Amino acid sequence: MTPIVETARGGAVVTGAGAGVGQAIALRLLRDGFGVAVCDVNPDAVERTIGMAADEGLHATVAAVADVAVEADVQTAVDAARREFSTLSVMVNNAGIGGAFGPITELVPNDWDATFAVLVKGVLLGTKHAARAFLEQHEPGVIVNIASAAGYTAGLAAHAYSAAKAAVISLTRSAALELAPHRIRVAAVSPGLILTGLAGAASEDYARRLDTAQPWPGHGTSDDVAGVVSFLVGADAGFITGTSVVVDGGLLTTGPGPDLLASIGLDPAKRRRAGISYGTTGRPTTVHPASDTHRT
Ligand SMILES: NC(=O)c1ccc[n+]([C@@H]2O[C@H](COP(=O)([O-])OP(=O)(O)OC[C@H]3O[C@@H](n4cnc5c(N)ncnc54)[C@H](O)[C@@H]3O)[C@@H](O)[C@H]2O)c1
Repeated sequence: MTPIVETARGGAVVTGAGAGVGQAIALRLLRDGFGVAVCDVNPDAVERTIGMAADEGLHATVAAVADVAVEADVQTAVDAARREFSTLSVMVNNAGIGGAFGPITELVPNDWDATFAVLVKGVLLGTKHAARAFLEQHEPGVIVNIASAAGYTAGLAAHAYSAAKAAVISLTRSAALELAPHRIRVAAVSPGLILTGLAGAASEDYARRLDTAQPWPGHGTSDDVAGVVSFLVGADAGFITGTSVVVDGGLLTTGPGPDLLASIGLDPAKRRRAGISYGTTGRPTTVHPASDTHRT
């Protein structure tokens, strides 16, 4: 296949590339010499990231408006990268939402399912279609899943989010085992508290509170995560597969403790009402009336 855009290192798909961590990963991989399918459910966000890349003189991008929870969308995003850059080299499953929140006694099962659809099924679909592409190409490839320190411990996020991220860490291991004979590596990155819009709190005040939320004096940034992704997809990480690299400023050395979320102004487990946050997708957060949370 003749590539439409010549690149030094082939194509990468980055999901959730319209904002925060995914945007930083997309820009970093472009600087590293990959062509990037900028994949996000929010079309304005896709255009913003492509515009930022262009401002840096990075033009090896293709827009891929896609919902990672929809298999046909994920397939289309992978196909776009292969068509545009002739080969897929890297898949980064990063798209995320805050998801279902509230006390466990009030959790609405549909919110749980919607959370897992994005955070777990989305990673499965990205892994499935990237692995198929690598196998068809008869070439090695790398899949990086963005999990979370919340996948290792309680008290860092809401129930559904933490359980979903633990599932991502597990899926990373099992996919790595199956794909290793084909020289396809699968690794995860598990960030701690990173200053992005996901919590809807990317303010100076929130940044100051994050500065003291973990042992490291200062808050985590999207570039801290992107740098690790850049390493994981490179040759120096050639013997790394099936593991998760924790990028948390030492947070998991002691664990978050019972009051960490309250101290930074986020406390989903202690909210009396249950609901679901769709993060920065543009879909509004839903909080259920108390009478609804015992149904379904
Ligand atoms: N910010 C943190 O502190 C933190 C910590 C640990 C892990 N993470 C993980 O890092 C990843 C990125 O988070 P972020 O903080 O950059 O969030 P963000 O809200 O800043 O950006 C997330 C992006 O994903 C997109 N997205 C959401 N649902 C999607 C879907 N169904 N299909 C396609 N795109 C979708 C959004 O539109 C948005 O552009 C997530 O997986 C998140 O769980 C974040």
